[in-house]
Amino acid sequence: MIGDLLARNRAWSDARKIERPDYFQRLANLQRPEYLWIGCSDSRVPANVITGLEPGEVFVHRNVANLIHPTDLNMLSVVEFAVHQLGVKHIIICGHYGCGGVRAAVSGSRLGLIDNWLQPIRDISRTTFNCQECDRWTDADLDRLCEESVKAQVTRLASTPTMQDAWRDKKDVAIHGWIYGLHDGLLSDLTCTVQAR
Ligand code: CO
Repeated sequence: MIGDLLARNRAWSDARKIERPDYFQRLANLQRPEYLWIGCSDSRVPANVITGLEPGEVFVHRNVANLIHPTDLNMLSVVEFAVHQLGVKHIIICGHYGCGGVRAAVSGSRLGLIDNWLQPIRDISRTTFNCQECDRWTDADLDRLCEESVKAQVTRLASTPTMQDAWRDKKDVAIHGWIYGLHDGLLSDLTCTVQAR
């Protein structure tokens, strides 16, 4: 029931105020998160929940399959604001195993507009795996494709003028590639961090 959400929200708000009477006052006055999270829209991968971060601690952008498109004004505006105005120190591009977007990208069937969105994953599947159709993809292959896609998105974000300018302006910000396991709830660092280039 949609009405339940409002009731749960009231209970949550009340609980926060009991824990700390100035909880919302403090948050309303200042937003200074140290992290920008760029993750998949998948409902099972909520940034705050899986990192144990409170409201105010992570700036979030999510899209299908956590992709970086150099013409995505939404994503670029988020990154620019996070780096220049909020002064985030870490950008985390986080993928997840079992990503439906990654699977769809190499399924070989036409789904519509999303096929264009998922194009970067098909490009990686060609260059890194040399096969494109899902009937030849094992679960292990798809997991590796999820990992390779995250690494490629780190490189793509690092190449954007937005990040190049940030580093030229001596902004202390790094881009990290992580992946999340739906089965165990664990994050892994794919060790592809870019500090500046
Ligand atoms: Co996904």
